[in-house]
Amino acid sequence: MGEARGRRVAVLGGDGIGPEVTAAALSVVADLGVALELSYYDVGAARYLRDGFVLDDATLEELRGFDAIFLGAVGPAIGDTQIPGGLLERGLLLRLRFGLDLYVNYRPFRGVSGSLAQGHAFAIVRENTEGPYAGEGGVLRYASAHEVATQGSVNTRFGVERCVRFAFERAALLEEPHLTLVHKTNVLTYAGDLWRRVVAEVAEQFPAVNVDYHHVDAACIYLVEKPQHYGVIVTDNLFGDILSDLAGAVTGGIGFAASANLNPARTGPSLFEPVHGAAHDIAGTGRANPLAAIASAALMLEHLGYDDDAARLSRAVAEFDGDVRVLDTRAVTARLRERL
Ligand code: IPM
Ligand code: MN
Repeated sequence: MGEARGRRVAVLGGDGIGPEVTAAALSVVADLGVALELSYYDVGAARYLRDGFVLDDATLEELRGFDAIFLGAVGPAIGDTQIPGGLLERGLLLRLRFGLDLYVNYRPFRGVSGSLAQGHAFAIVRENTEGPYAGEGGVLRYASAHEVATQGSVNTRFGVERCVRFAFERAALLEEPHLTLVHKTNVLTYAGDLWRRVVAEVAEQFPAVNVDYHHVDAACIYLVEKPQHYGVIVTDNLFGDILSDLAGAVTGGIGFAASANLNPARTGPSLFEPVHGAAHDIAGTGRANPLAAIASAALMLEHLGYDDDAARLSRAVAEFDGDVRVLDTRAVTARLRERL
């Protein structure tokens, strides 16, 4: 893979178990013989407490120059009162998603043995820059008896269409191409109607893809009762956030769930991170499951064009047969290496 040598990757280990799982994943990438040029950035709770900011403009600009960003986890420890709730998440993760136009959050799942979705693979394609995450809304008469709080969901034709198109492209690659739109069109009539029409329009260009629709509440039942129904789920930002935690639970636990925050137009770097959080309670104990970070590294390699290495790595994760409840981070990483 000579021509792809030296891709520049910014590593943002972050908080809690973030630095441990990113280190484990990057050691496996090095084992594959993929020579990435790594630059480490200190972001997260400790940095905020020291310097008073989460991600400054200069760093965001610098990050634009990388080929990819590899992130561990951010978030304060439970009970931490020094950091306002959500500040790190919005200040880092959402800032990067919006600032770098990472408009697709691609989250592939594969049911590990013993899970409800055992052996089945499916993916959630979550719109990543709009919906209720866009920050539309505000507050009137704050802290009075007549306080008003609104938080709108922003859905643009442009934003919905580019996400839906990506989802169809992924669905078309499946052995049995299948895409399910998940929304709440019976109640969220304006946004739901836009999503429905866009899916119908884009579907015309993908005649091989079988398309259906589920309300989000019903999808929560089906994900548990018959996850095999799903191939690619396409959905809005908030539904995608919630469904991907549920999908993590039915496929063996959030400790296995990988994600790619993608800018498919490639106008800048994409960002790869495990779906799980900082898990401060086990940080430093060596007990964190690195498989989600390793699977996220595989998504990163694929995006960077190391197709063979990415395939080897994701196959090794899929075939992993140890019990992560008893194996520690080192042991999981070592056993995964044997599979490479
Ligand atoms: C995720 C996380 C984030 C989200 C938080 C940390 C802002 O839950 O990546 O799923 O809501 O998108
Ligand atoms: Mn989430």
